[in-house]
Amino acid sequence: MGNPTQGTPALEMLDVTRRFAATGGRSLRQGQNARAGQLVVLDRINLQITAGKFVAVLGPSGSGKSTMLALMAGLDRPSEGQVRVEGREIQRLGEDELARLRRRRIGFVFQSFQLLGNLTALENVMLPLEMLGRKKARSGATEILERVGLAERINHYPSQLSGGEQQRVAMARAFGPEPPILLADEPTGNLDASTGRTILDLLLELRDAHKTTMVLVTHDPKVADLAQMRIHLEAGRVVRTENAEGSSRPQDGKSAEHEASNRARVEPADEPDAVEVSR
Ligand SMILES: Nc1ncnc2c1ncn2[C@@H]1O[C@H](COP(=O)(O)OP(=O)(O)O)[C@@H](O)[C@H]1O
Ligand SMILES: [Mg+2]
Repeated sequence: MGNPTQGTPALEMLDVTRRFAATGGRSLRQGQNARAGQLVVLDRINLQITAGKFVAVLGPSGSGKSTMLALMAGLDRPSEGQVRVEGREIQRLGEDELARLRRRRIGFVFQSFQLLGNLTALENVMLPLEMLGRKKARSGATEILERVGLAERINHYPSQLSGGEQQRVAMARAFGPEPPILLADEPTGNLDASTGRTILDLLLELRDAHKTTMVLVTHDPKVADLAQMRIHLEAGRVVRTENAEGSSRPQDGKSAEHEASNRARVEPADEPDAVEVSR
């Protein structure tokens, strides 16, 4: 698979809607756009992410951030609309093709890490490198684990690691193969400020070295401030898109001053905007 045609967005969503059957009733009470037994979790999302962009996805818990990320990765399929990865419409790909696309082009960090419990940290990070037939999988995986500050923990199993340590293993596993697209669900959510900064620096370095497209779901103002584009989700809709340059495309008539106050926030905020309880 060669490089994508220049100018093709890395990721595109065209009128994407994702519905789930609202069987439990619990979600219905959350006041979402439920109709006819269906819960509309993403509602006609349109967005385009240029290759090499660093994008933050923000929004309250339950607004559809994880669902959006899963769609971008081809881990889920839209109920309506199209998702394109490097110009390829994922609905048109068979399972094998999709798996190959994900393996070669996309690194994904799950909110719940999804490490393999019977493999050590090192083996977890080596696995995608081996699947890609990379030489020196072991030394490469060791190096990347050292860079996320886990040199002493490489032979430990996930159950022996703290949440923050598991998160760093998951990050190392995702960016070990240096994917052109990196999608991460709250990648600094379980980390203290200084470890979070280390991970963020590593991500920025990765982007500079490989022009990686990065989409990070985050509640961390420091991460959001560094992003070139911020997508604000509320109840399954994009309510605002901000570009670091300052051009705003409010979709619900929200004011530009809202955005200006956001940009003017130069002091790193200590308190997070919102705290999400992990599911
Ligand atoms: N597989 C599913 N079946 C039913 N409802 C789901 C499913 N996945 C997510 N949801 C619902 O979709 C909404 C958005 O979820 P999610 O994308 O995880 O939000 P966020 O990541 O912003 O917290 C929530 O109300 C959640 O309960
Ligand atoms: Mg989530």
